[in-house]
Parts: sequence; structure tokens; C-alpha cells
Amino acid sequence: MPIQISSKVMRLKPSASIAAKQRVTDLEAKGWKIYDFCVGEPDFATPKTIVDAAIAAMRRGDTHYTGSSGILALREAVAQKLSHDNHVTYHPSEIVVANGAKQLIYELFAATLEPGNEVIVPAPYWVSYPDIVALNGGTPIVVSCGPEDNFKLTAASLESAITDKTRWVIINSPSNPTGAVYHQDEWQALIDVLVSHPHVSILTDEIYEHIIYENAQNITPVALDERLKERCVIVNGMSKAYAMTGWRLGFAAGPQHVMQAITKLLGQSTTCACSFAQSAAVEALYGSPEPVEEMLRAYTKRRSIMVDGLNRIEGICCTKPQGAFYAFPDVRAILGSKSPDGSTLTTDLDLVNYLIEEASVATMDGTSYGLPGFLRLSFATSQSMIAEGLEAMTLAIAKLDRPLAQA
Ligand SMILES: Cc1ncc(COP(=O)(O)O)c(C=O)c1O
Repeated sequence: MPIQISSKVMRLKPSASIAAKQRVTDLEAKGWKIYDFCVGEPDFATPKTIVDAAIAAMRRGDTHYTGSSGILALREAVAQKLSHDNHVTYHPSEIVVANGAKQLIYELFAATLEPGNEVIVPAPYWVSYPDIVALNGGTPIVVSCGPEDNFKLTAASLESAITDKTRWVIINSPSNPTGAVYHQDEWQALIDVLVSHPHVSILTDEIYEHIIYENAQNITPVALDERLKERCVIVNGMSKAYAMTGWRLGFAAGPQHVMQAITKLLGQSTTCACSFAQSAAVEALYGSPEPVEEMLRAYTKRRSIMVDGLNRIEGICCTKPQGAFYAFPDVRAILGSKSPDGSTLTTDLDLVNYLIEEASVATMDGTSYGLPGFLRLSFATSQSMIAEGLEAMTLAIAKLDRPLAQA
């Protein structure tokens, strides 16, 4: 008899971004030149000082299991980073290190959810949140936050989504996919709601913290209101800021008993994060900020090319992201158009398919992020790739027969 797959895994959708990456790889293997705007990771190499620290760790023999919560030196480095960058105080015993922010989010919900508990997920959301919640028995409560709210959860929407089954609300700032960053007054309004609902905890995913533009600022809510500390978990990691996606290293800070529960789960699953990747992360956190700043300067230029180029395409409207490396243009005015082969582009996914077939431009559909009518384009790629890809996209969109209402 064939091995039976569990119903919870049968219900699970494959990660949309991983599926898109596979599609690009398959087309490239067939010889297509793809303008790939699906990538969710920096295109830069990990800074040399960080790589050297990993090599040194291997040479000195740091190649064994570590404690499940991570080496003390790294948890101390995270504590000093949280104090220096985020103005919050955490003891190393309130910090856990694991194989990426994704694993920590997974373990956090595994450690705290009971069947039927609700988790408020503002949409558009990072694709994995609803699935991770559901896999751990929770019910994702998706709250739509459209362009009229600058893609951010408002106090009123939070208040009306809370029930007595709510356990968590997830805030991701800067956001994947929109680049939205919560300002102090917006945080304060959310905090005021949370203070009056003590059964609701908050997960703040700050993985794009250092990729932030102009005057925008990363704020962690505990820095605004110490009362939240007992029900806030901060998740962050090395992947995006330090171009370390493949190293698989993230960290979380929160109440000690929650961190201990996560550590217990890690001890029965992955044991620990890679030992020498942890040493490399210590170097990243204490080392010079220059490599991160240099990458930020490049993202800043690419952001302008991407956003200005998108806004020049008729029917596309794109706000400037304040953080992360994604543009999230509104393409609703294009939907309903007919492509040269006579088929109608009804949904954002139809447009994604048209762009890849007609222009070799790979984008992500807003529907996968919980907000139909939008696309996500990553600008973590070269300026020339962005310029050429936008040119191909402009030509492809010009070929569409637009709906009468737009003509
Ligand atoms: C919002 C968000 N959170 C978490 C992650 C996962 O990061 P890590 O590589 O640390 O697992 C990603 C990766 O794309 C992300 O976009």
C-alpha cells in the first residue's frame, strides 16, 4: 500500500515564491533569458568579513552541535543589537537562534497555538504566514489592508478582527510584499488597541529592518510601550540585511518561557542552527555596518528605476516602498484586457502568465499575497536587468487590447 500523506500536508499549498523560482529555473534550463523579478533574496555576495569568520570558526573546530537555543556569544550579540538598534533590553536567556526567521515563526506557533486559535494576518502578507498558522492548528484571520490604508493594519481593523479566540497578530514592517513601514503614530494606535485586549500577543517580523529608505525608521513596539514586552515576540535574522539567505540563521526575542518552549521544539527537530554560521552571525552583528550600507545604496537606486519605470507604463500605478526590496504595483486598470491571441487577462495571475510568455518577465501575482489586482516585483537584481525587463514589460502591455472603459 502506498505511504499515506497526512491531511494537514495534503491541505498545504506549496510556497508560491518557491514555486515561482522553480518556474524561472525550468525556463532558463530550456534556454530562455528571463527578467526575473520574483527573487526574494539579495543578489549580493555575503560580505567577506562574515565569510572569513565562518572559515575561521571551522578551522578552530567549531563544527559540532551547539546548544539548541544557539551559542551564548551570538545571543549576547543579538541582545546588544536589540539594545543599540531597537532600544529594547533582552537578556540572552530571552533570545533563541534557529535556522532562519521562518523556522522561528513556525516554532513559535507550534509552541503556542491550540486548535481553533485565531491569528490575525494583515493582507497583503508574506506568503508563508497563513500556511504556517494553519499547519500548527490555528486559523488565519486575514484582514485586508489595501492601498487606501497604505497597505497597513489600522487600529479600527485590528479592533474589529479581535475575538476571544485571537491569540496573535502578525505585523511585518518593513513589509514583504509592499515595502510599507509602520510609523510611530500607527504603532501607537495599534498598541492602544492591544493594551485593551490582554489575551492578544504580537509577533513583529523585522527581517527587512535594515533595508529602509529616506526618513522611514524601523520601530519595535516594545520600545514604545514596555507593557507589551510580556506578549511580544520579535523575529529577525541575517538573511536579508547581510545577504545570508543560504546560511539559514534567524533569531527571536521574547518572554523566557516562550523561548524555552521554542528551544524544546528545536531540540527535538533540528537540534541547533549550523555552528559556524552562528560564528559568522556574531561577526555580522558586531562588524562594520559599511557592507549593509553599501547594499542599501544600491537598493535605493534600483528602487527609483523600478518604481519610476512602472509608473511610466499606462495602466500601472506604483507607490514608493519605504522599505524592503519589492515594488507592489496596482494593475487593476489592465485587467480585462485582451492579449494578442484573443484571451482575456481577467486576474493578476493571467497577467503574470502573459508577461512571462510574451516578455520573459517573471513577476509574482498579488493574489498569492492575499491582495488580488497587484503584482510583486523584486528589485534585488541589477539595474540593467530592471531597465531591460521594464522595457520588455512596457512593449508587452502596449500590445494589449484595453477594456473599453479605459480606452
Ligand atoms: C517577511 C519575511 N519573513 C521571514 C522570511 C524568512 O527569512 P529567513 O530566511 O530568515 O527564514 C522572509 C523571507 O522571504 C520574509 O520575506
